[in-house]
Amino acid sequence: MIGIFDSGYGGLSVMRQIRRLMPEYDYLYLGDNARAPYGPRSYDVVYHYTLQAVEALFARGCELVILACNTASAKALRTIQQHDLQRLGATRRVLGVIRPTVEAIGDITRTRHIGILATQGTVGSMSYNMEIAKLFPDIHVTAQACPMWVPLVEYGEYDTPGADYFVKKRIDAVMAADPLIDTLVLACTHYPLLMDKIRRHSPPAVKILPQGEIIAASLKDYLHRHPEMDTRLQRHGTARFLTTEDPQKFCESATIFMPHTDVQVERIQL
Ligand code: DGL
Repeated sequence: MIGIFDSGYGGLSVMRQIRRLMPEYDYLYLGDNARAPYGPRSYDVVYHYTLQAVEALFARGCELVILACNTASAKALRTIQQHDLQRLGATRRVLGVIRPTVEAIGDITRTRHIGILATQGTVGSMSYNMEIAKLFPDIHVTAQACPMWVPLVEYGEYDTPGADYFVKKRIDAVMAADPLIDTLVLACTHYPLLMDKIRRHSPPAVKILPQGEIIAASLKDYLHRHPEMDTRLQRHGTARFLTTEDPQKFCESATIFMPHTDVQVERIQL
């Protein structure tokens, strides 16, 4: 199976696009809802939680795990790849979302000024700044933490006037910091649910870039380039869901991210 991990529901926005592009594979989603949000947590804690999640997905038959969570990709991916993967199974792989997102940015910005909207954890890690500096040293990056946005989505308040206030506040801040920005990257899996408001409060010429389609295209390309992995993946077109919190609650929220999907959920402990 292909495992998809997120701290909560947000990764479902990525999974939706992956399944849309590659419906034939079998997917296992894990949301660590009991311990979300990861955004404000320290490196050690995010690493420890993410490693537990990866181990749980491997133990259930995943050969490849996508860390759909930017915070986990920023704070745990490299350590897991370098220190844990050998022990967990040399042929298994863990991939993140930051590198593919950065690879896509180069062709999109014209002014070469971009804004990264993300959790405090992702912004504080400087992961986007470092990856962009490596691949596109000519691009000027302004990263803006949006601490209220994930709770607005997790608590179902993303379509309220309160959400307008917090979205406008952060968009105004990033555009004031660099008025030349022509692309805003939604570097958090939860933010696509705020898309209407982000669009409304951004200058019309600014492009808003969600990650789902980018990650899906990048995964397809990865599997094409790695037939040894591709042949190990089952193809029955199934999707199962695991949560560390209440399955009923997961089902209700999951339908917001993945409308018209039959969501079979099991609760696990990490
Ligand atoms: N899913 C996380 C991300 O993409 C945000 C939610 C959280 O803070 O746990 O960064």
